[in-house]
Amino acid sequence: MKRREFVLAGLAGLGATAAGCSTAEFHKVAPYVPTPLPVVDAMLRLAAVRRSDVVYDLGCGDGRFVLSAARYYGARGVGVDIDQGLVNEANAAARAAGLSDRARFLVQDLFETDISEATVITLFLYPEMNARLLPKFRSDLRPGTRIVSHQFRIGDWKPDRIEAARAGNRTHPIFLWIV
Ligand SMILES: C[S@@+](CC[C@H](N)C(=O)[O-])C[C@H]1O[C@@H](n2cnc3c(N)ncnc32)[C@H](O)[C@@H]1O
Repeated sequence: MKRREFVLAGLAGLGATAAGCSTAEFHKVAPYVPTPLPVVDAMLRLAAVRRSDVVYDLGCGDGRFVLSAARYYGARGVGVDIDQGLVNEANAAARAAGLSDRARFLVQDLFETDISEATVITLFLYPEMNARLLPKFRSDLRPGTRIVSHQFRIGDWKPDRIEAARAGNRTHPIFLWIV
């Protein structure tokens, strides 16, 4: 799917807004399009998240992956986003849910984030961004770390599993790689 289609599919299909992006930035970074909650659940199940896991969501939006991993699986997690407003929202949701000890959100460029402690990575980014992350995944993640991506592959890396998650009347491809 091309960038324009990604944005249009996201905006039309998921009813989201491209918050916090100027026109110029809009084409350089993935806009904020939240993953539907049933797809979040399916991805966390596909990654077999458990209490001992440390889940990193690169481009975390409102924090839904890390918050769900903490709330439903007892995992710890970190979400990073370049949008201060979204990070504030995610930290407020963590506080409101009493999950601040297990769910942290930081304003950070995901390409600069230290991901070495992660045991699970969650992604919903442009394919170009996933491909750019591939060398970092190969060098910084420990063997056995699971990566799950909504909608897009990671360069030419063959996924270990591909599934289809349903949300409303749409089907969303989700991918799993095990480092
Ligand atoms: C498609 S949204 C996904 C949000 C969330 N992961 C989800 O699936 O609901 C992509 C997010 O990545 C963030 N983002 C884009 N480029 C980024 C970068 N270089 N560093 C950190 N966050 C970035 C955007 O602000 C946006 O919130």
